[in-house]
Amino acid sequence: MPVRVVLNQDEIPRQWYNIAADLPSPMQPPLGPDGNPISPDMLAPVFPMNLIEQEVSQERWIDIPEEVLEILYRWRPSPLLRATRLEKALGTPARIYYKNESVSPPGSHKPNTAVPQAWYNKQFGIEKLTTETGAGQWGSALSFAGALVGLEVKVYMVRISFDQKPFRKIMMETWGGTCIPSPSPNTQAGRAALEKDPDTPGSLGIAISEAIEEAVTDPSGKTRYSLGSVLNHVLLHQTIIGLEAKKQLEKIGENKVDVVIGCAGGGSNFAGLAFPFVLDKINGAEIDIIPVEPTSCPTMTRAPFAYDHGDTAKMTPLLPMHTLGHDFIPPPIHAGGLRYHGIAPLISQTIVEGLISPEAIPQLECYEAAVTFARTEGFVVAPETSHAVASAIREAKKAKEEGKEKVIIFNMSGHGLMDLVGYDKYFAGELVNHVLPEDEIQRALNAIEGLPKPEINKSGKW
Ligand SMILES: Cc1ncc(COP(=O)(O)O)c(C=O)c1O
Repeated sequence: MPVRVVLNQDEIPRQWYNIAADLPSPMQPPLGPDGNPISPDMLAPVFPMNLIEQEVSQERWIDIPEEVLEILYRWRPSPLLRATRLEKALGTPARIYYKNESVSPPGSHKPNTAVPQAWYNKQFGIEKLTTETGAGQWGSALSFAGALVGLEVKVYMVRISFDQKPFRKIMMETWGGTCIPSPSPNTQAGRAALEKDPDTPGSLGIAISEAIEEAVTDPSGKTRYSLGSVLNHVLLHQTIIGLEAKKQLEKIGENKVDVVIGCAGGGSNFAGLAFPFVLDKINGAEIDIIPVEPTSCPTMTRAPFAYDHGDTAKMTPLLPMHTLGHDFIPPPIHAGGLRYHGIAPLISQTIVEGLISPEAIPQLECYEAAVTFARTEGFVVAPETSHAVASAIREAKKAKEEGKEKVIIFNMSGHGLMDLVGYDKYFAGELVNHVLPEDEIQRALNAIEGLPKPEINKSGKW
């Protein structure tokens, strides 16, 4: 039985998969400030039109440009591994596989969309991109893509992560990017957040507001904003993960997958692995598909499906998604990339349909799982990824109790070599579990009172 399954360069998928073409109930549109659906041209100050076209596309398959593939070949197709040593340690009859996305130069799945986003912006004549970053993975990925494609990159990094992960900033600078802590005094949104609380740990919602503000106020018109998760075109670019994984499983004769798992902040790495399997489920396959979030930021498991802004300063359109409210500032856990108040609308709609089953796991169980994984499989995973590892371990133990030979696959979305401070604090016993009290959630949800409500559209099949 092979431990590592690889594909040749010429076996890489040449099209991305767009789940919008197959959802049993249609997606509801983003809304403008007046409560009416926005038109694509209203997004033009923020994104280039070629990406907006992907955002609204209903085509099932979208070609990956050759020049994008030429850059992706540097680490793609990424390996699929069988966690034989973890299986043995758990004594499980399950076969556990993981897709190793940590082999990209910045160390995560994020360049799968950073490269095409930078490329499409360059094609459109854009010279500079602004963005936010949580743990620093996305800021690194966009800086890397900017260097290879030839674009200037400016990154607003959430304050708590900026302080916890200083090496990420140096990586961004090595690729020619600029990285500043958010909230910053440079933007109106940043100044407002600092006025409210000068010691705020920051949040992705605030950092997004700052990055959008800088892009849309550039008088040259040559700056656009780039988002590392949440939006349809970002999830689209990530589907190369699941499409490769399916080819790899097929290659070794694994014809039936039982459980698919990914951690979810905005939802892009989860969707990237899972959506090609969701298509199988839509077509009748029986698969448990699990996005995993922290108990400290329980967007999918405890928040309502509602219309909300993607950022704190309400600069984005209203998106139909599970949300804790755009003002919500999650506790400063180490999985910075999972500290987001919302989730991708495409994921929310698959939750509403019952096609996927979200799960929340507390921080200490995740670190324990990450340490078990490091001591069996050898890889030190990112704190975000540890949520997927913890869920895979739960599922493998369940398979043992049930005496079932299940096939489990999870996304190893990134390595944790820049996140060792979190591991250090875990070993020192300084980390705690945060379970968000219900009254805190209710307080945060005041922010969406009075906003339009989406319909609950579901086919009732799942
Ligand atoms: C390694 C890693 N995994 C997962 C995530 C969560 O993002 P998403 O849900 O978009 O994949 C991040 C975000 O920063 C990350 O760095």
